[in-house]
Amino acid sequence: MRKILLTGCLGQIGTELTLHFRKEYGDNNVVASNRTKKDFPEVIDGGPFELLDVLDANRLAEICNKYKIDTIVHLAAILSAVGEVKPQHAFNVNLNGLYNVLEVARENGIQVFTPSSIAAFGPSTPPDNTPQDTIQRPNTIYGVTKVAGELLCDYYYTRFGVDTRGVRLPGLISYKALPGGGTTDYAVHIYYDAILHNRYESYIAAGTKMDMMYMPDCLKAFTMLLEANPDRLIHRNAFNIAAMSFAPEDMEKEIKKHLPDFELSYNVDPVRQAIADSWPNSMDDSCAREEWDWKPDYDLAAMTEDMLKQLRIKLAK
Ligand code: NAD
Ligand code: SER
Repeated sequence: MRKILLTGCLGQIGTELTLHFRKEYGDNNVVASNRTKKDFPEVIDGGPFELLDVLDANRLAEICNKYKIDTIVHLAAILSAVGEVKPQHAFNVNLNGLYNVLEVARENGIQVFTPSSIAAFGPSTPPDNTPQDTIQRPNTIYGVTKVAGELLCDYYYTRFGVDTRGVRLPGLISYKALPGGGTTDYAVHIYYDAILHNRYESYIAAGTKMDMMYMPDCLKAFTMLLEANPDRLIHRNAFNIAAMSFAPEDMEKEIKKHLPDFELSYNVDPVRQAIADSWPNSMDDSCAREEWDWKPDYDLAAMTEDMLKQLRIKLAK
């Protein structure tokens, strides 16, 4: 059985991925870690948990040794909007953190899975049906670290034989943990505000399409690629994966099917709008489909129905 270490496990993805992996691989085989503790008792008390700053290479090695880790799922990162506020910090965490993970993996024969993002593309990338292999000239620090991370993971595979794998994730929508400061966060907040206030003010302009995905599909993709037959993998790192592409008004239309009085207004944030404008409208994920049978389960309608149902329970409305 795998012995998995997750870094940055108390964020939007990690809080769900830890529980998902513990179900698949056993509670004691999944070590959760984060730089700080947060109020997620299911994750912290449901199996091994360690405080770990990924910039501390010695502590990372100590934890890998203590638990005989053979797989690291590296999630600790600074996302796009926070990254533009603190670019030096984003560079440090996103690149030096990944370097520490790859080095400990090289020294100990550990497999590494780490997500890239739609942010690895930029304004000169073809925006529609964005190919797997295409122009990548992002203009955010987050995007720069993601492209460099993709290349670094490829390098550790070809140069040192480290089994590195990863996907380019779309914006993720989920109801357990709030998103950590990205550009696509509006697509989560809109559901909370729909339930709580029956209205939402969007910082992203009408007509701005971005790739998005519901969390269950993200969890499924991580397991599928982690377990994929290596002989079939041509790309290994940074697979485009897609599920749905929409603009704020598409969400409005879908939410109105459940809450007919819901109102959407706009107060556009120029920083996050510029980031959104530089990202693809929709990615071509045919390589993931061909190389490891990727296929999403949720579209906008199915996700909206489930998000509203789950949030009504969570927010007791
Ligand atoms: P998040 O911001 O919700 O969580 C990140 C976690 O990392 C937080 O719990 C934070 O405390 C922790 N962290 C920050 N600095 C750390 C450090 N130095 N050491 C250890 N932990 C640290 O992020 P997320 O949404 O869960 O994203 C996880 C990964 O997925 C990131 O690489 C991100 O770029 C990628 N991704 C996320 C999305 C999305 O929509 N959520 C989309 C594309 C890619
Ligand atoms: N959801 C992420 C962000 O907006 C995409 O990587 O930063």
